[in-house]
Order: sequence, then structure tokens, then C-alpha cells
Amino acid sequence: DRPEALPYDLAGQRILVSAGGTREPLDPVRYLGNHSSGKQGYALARAAAQRGAQVTLVAGATSDPGEPAAVDIVHIESARELEHEMSRRAREADVVIMAAAVADFRPVDVAGSKIKKGDDGPAPIRLDTNPDILAGLVRARGAGDIARDTVIVGFAAETGDADGGVLDHGRAKLRRKGCDLLVVNAVGDGKAFGTEDNAGWILTVDGNETALPFGSKTLMASRILDEVAVIVPHS
Ligand code: CTP
Ligand code: CA
Repeated sequence: DRPEALPYDLAGQRILVSAGGTREPLDPVRYLGNHSSGKQGYALARAAAQRGAQVTLVAGATSDPGEPAAVDIVHIESARELEHEMSRRAREADVVIMAAAVADFRPVDVAGSKIKKGDDGPAPIRLDTNPDILAGLVRARGAGDIARDTVIVGFAAETGDADGGVLDHGRAKLRRKGCDLLVVNAVGDGKAFGTEDNAGWILTVDGNETALPFGSKTLMASRILDEVAVIVPHS
């Protein structure tokens, strides 16, 4: 059942969404992780399905993100598992949305058995850089491995700093990533992570900048999908 108020403008679109945080293993019982709740990605998946899309949700670690109704769900742990699922599934998608909080780094060594406390104190954890999945998807599209008209959406959580405001960082990230849409969330002061509300901008590759006033993640999702619906090729 579809609420009357929702448009049915994504009918037949195949939408691939990543959500939640990645966990980068240290040993069989420990990992490096982050505070992503997965709520924004789940809200997007739900809203897209309600608007008629065929949705696959690739989910990492979440907390209380709600039921992903009418959505195919695939669970992953690490960034490299996420990369594997996204690159494979993006070939069968019209829209790819990278809402996952991907760890930038992973431990170089993953112990096969539980690391013991021992007598020597803690050993340093050496890190490697994870693949940039979003940038990889854009590259694959450029190379023709993914259809050229696939719409690719990225997310950025930014704070202002000495190098510029949230919007400046968002614009720079859109250029760097090469995606079609970048959803920029203003974070800091406890905003966004694990909370119900968000605020930010949607930036498009052709220079449109739409403010996202403070609102629920469900409302954010429908605003983001409004922008997606404008640029997705309709058959
Ligand atoms: N992302 C990704 N793969 C990574 C890191 C990030 O696909 N290894 C995606 C995220 O899912 C998000 C976008 O890239 O859609 C931006 O993530 P963000 O962490 O803001 O960008 P980074 O390039 O990692 O830059 P920063 O140094 O600001 O963390
Ligand atoms: Ca990052």
C-alpha cells in the first residue's frame, strides 16, 4: 500500500543503496567501526520502494534503522566486502546511492585468533587505506563497465574548518568524486550521527545547489529522491 501523497515517479527504476557503517576486522572478535546508524540509507531505500523502484539495500552495521520494507537486503561487514557487492550490483542498477559510512582505513594485519593482552602492553595498529568505492564506481562508469547513464549519488558529512565552510568542502568533494549528486550533511555538535534529523545541501554536477532544511531523515530521503527523479533517464 502506497500513501496517496507519494509520487510514483521511480516506477521500474533499479536503485542500489548502501547504508550503515563498515567494520574493519582486527581479529575474530574485534573491529574498527563508526557510529553510523544506517537510518538515512534505510529511509532512502524505503522511500524509493514506495515510489515504485526495485530496491537493493547493501547494509553494513546499523542501529535501529527500521524495517527495510519491500527491499532486497544484502549484509556486509568490511569496506572491501561492500566494494565487492556494489561494483557487481551497480551493473544492474539505474541509480546507485552511496549512503554507507565507509571506513577510510583498515588494519593491515588481521589476527587469525584473538589478540591476547600479554605482558608487553599494546602493539600499535598499522592501517591501510580502503578503496574509495564511490570514486571506483564513477571510474567504472567512465570505462563503460557500468552503463553510462547510471546515476551515481554520494554523501558527505562535513564540518566547517579553517579551509572553508560545509558548503565549500561539499563542492570540492563533488568535484573530487565525480558523482552526479552529492548530499552534504552539516555535522558536528551531535548533529546527524544516530539522530533523527539532518540538514545540508544537495549539490549537482551541473552546479545546482538545493538547501535541505532541518527535517526528518524520511523527509530528507524524499527530497533526495525528488532530485534523483529529475535526472534519472525514464524509459
Ligand atoms: N566513500 C566510499 N569509499 C570510501 C570512503 C567513502 O565510497 N572508502 C563514499 C561514502 O559512502 C560517501 C562519499 O564517498 O558517499 C564521501 O565519503 P566521505 O567520507 O565524506 O569522503 P572521503 O573521500 O572519505 O573524504 P574525507 O577525508 O572527508 O573522509
Ligand atoms: Ca571518509
